[in-house]
Amino acid sequence: MNLTLKVWRQKNATSRGHLTTYRVKEISPDMSFLEMLDVLNERLILDGDDPIAFDHDCREGICGMCGLVINGVPHGEQRATTTCQLHMRHFKDGDTIVIEPWRAAPFPVVKDLVVDRSAFDRIIEAGGYVSVPTGSAPDAHAVPVPKASADTAFDAATCIGCGACVAACPNGSASLFTAAKITHLGLLPQGQPERARRARAMVETADELGFGGCTNIGECTAVCPKGIPLATIARMNADYLGLAATGD
Ligand code: FES
Repeated sequence: MNLTLKVWRQKNATSRGHLTTYRVKEISPDMSFLEMLDVLNERLILDGDDPIAFDHDCREGICGMCGLVINGVPHGEQRATTTCQLHMRHFKDGDTIVIEPWRAAPFPVVKDLVVDRSAFDRIIEAGGYVSVPTGSAPDAHAVPVPKASADTAFDAATCIGCGACVAACPNGSASLFTAAKITHLGLLPQGQPERARRARAMVETADELGFGGCTNIGECTAVCPKGIPLATIARMNADYLGLAATGD
């Protein structure tokens, strides 16, 4: 496949960015999107040019490091797929692809396609930790957990913190991320002692960091590579207001 790429290049956080056009040739449909960028970067390095900076680590859809806005959609148009697991067979020979970083004020651009997502770390820190003394690891079945709660908690825990939800939201809201983190502890017995305090602290920290509020648009869940549902935000709101009962 031969492709035209329009890539966001930005030297650092304070300089102005712009789209630069590159042509890449003989891209295999079996390559991942990041491997396609690797091919371009190898050429740039051989030509003595500055390679394009982009985040990645596991390249297996686990770590949440990768994140590019591809043709206007965080992680691209393929549903439930991280950028690293997006394959070039979903594009056509001759396509033009526009590649940009996450766009949200709390995620400032560091360089090119890399943004600083440490604001998510501040939200997690605000949640604190589970203070119940647990001793050594108990048997897995020692604390009964209703199946529905275990399933919902596990689904929420699949959030990899990539930030696509923020990038997609017109409000730049971190509600889906925050709700997922609140939910995966809030539905389990071990998460009850700090449940209300945790929800308040995390929601208020997200507000202070400049993330917007949720107005039920749903772009977040549409681009979430793990398919975290919008109902997770309703659960967070109930926890924030102190309305939720154990196992809700
Ligand atoms: S590089 Fe780890 S999720 Fe994509």
